[in-house]
Amino acid sequence: MRRLLLWCAQNQWLATHVPRWAPAKRAVRRFLPGEHFDSALKAAVDFRAKGVGALFTRLGENITDLEEANAVVENYEEALAATTDIGAEISAKPTQLGLDIDPAATYANLRRLIRVADKTHSFVWIDMEGSAYTDRTVDLYLELRAEHPHVGIAIQAYLYRTASDISRLIAARAAVRLVKGAYSEPASIAFQAKRDVDANYLALTAMMLPEVKRKRLRLVNATHDTDMIGKVWRFASALGMERSDVEVAMLYGIRTDEQLRLAKEGFSVRDLISYGDAWYAWYLRRLAERPANVWFVARQLVP
Ligand code: FDA
Repeated sequence: MRRLLLWCAQNQWLATHVPRWAPAKRAVRRFLPGEHFDSALKAAVDFRAKGVGALFTRLGENITDLEEANAVVENYEEALAATTDIGAEISAKPTQLGLDIDPAATYANLRRLIRVADKTHSFVWIDMEGSAYTDRTVDLYLELRAEHPHVGIAIQAYLYRTASDISRLIAARAAVRLVKGAYSEPASIAFQAKRDVDANYLALTAMMLPEVKRKRLRLVNATHDTDMIGKVWRFASALGMERSDVEVAMLYGIRTDEQLRLAKEGFSVRDLISYGDAWYAWYLRRLAERPANVWFVARQLVP
């Protein structure tokens, strides 16, 4: 089921037709407060009142025209300006900013965003996409990090290469958002079994936590796996860290009760809130993460 859903995520015909279908639009609302930024902002304000921070992402990837990338940057600039009061951060995909077309333009686009984030006391995260982009994304990040402190990168625990990427990121005093990984990758480069991905996730976290304690690295554990967060906390507390030193991020609409519980217990929690109309591939990846969600979609399709 996971492979089928990830195949559908890449299918151009489905990508063009499914988003026009009203029941599909209804189903996606579980993971998206609305297509417009105002809905995302309202959700962030509500979360803020409950002690949970926000991370905004405008949906979209693999753009084919640099004008589109420019529009994305302008939209994020507006989002950054509108969110200074709530301490929100943003997260963007490199291929949404032009990586398929021109790496130098992508670098310039990210730099534009980081400069605005510097002024608004915010932070820019770079999402990690499929493995075809890993090298370029890590290199782009290291180049940006050499000049700017307020930029972070998502790193995927399912890739064998990740421990070595993290060694480079530690040396660069990076900000790392550690995720398990959302794409379909072959066994030649990625762990396939969940237990292996989980074991690597914990090992990578253990590698980074001492650097977090020394304030030489920012680490965000982006996962809905609350057992994993419990283990991360046991490592962190053994190092003498506080709950507030442990940063956790989850996606809007997933395990909201756990997000609120963790925030109440003193962990630093952020909810990643997406907006925009380019939700098709992103939504399919969410379904692939938990195929039981397909039944939720099926129920929405019944009149
Ligand atoms: P796991 O899959 O083990 O799930 C743990 C539990 O969480 C499950 O048992 C289930 O109950 C619940 N759960 C997980 N996913 C769910 C879903 N979709 N619906 C309902 N329940 C669900 N990936 C990537 O490749 N690049 C990136 O840049 C990012 N960025 C990112 C940011 C943030 C804030 C998060 C939370 C995640 C990402 N991801 C990502 C996605 C990530 O790689 C991964 O696919 C998902 O987080 C699912 O894995 P979990 O870590 O939640 O664990």
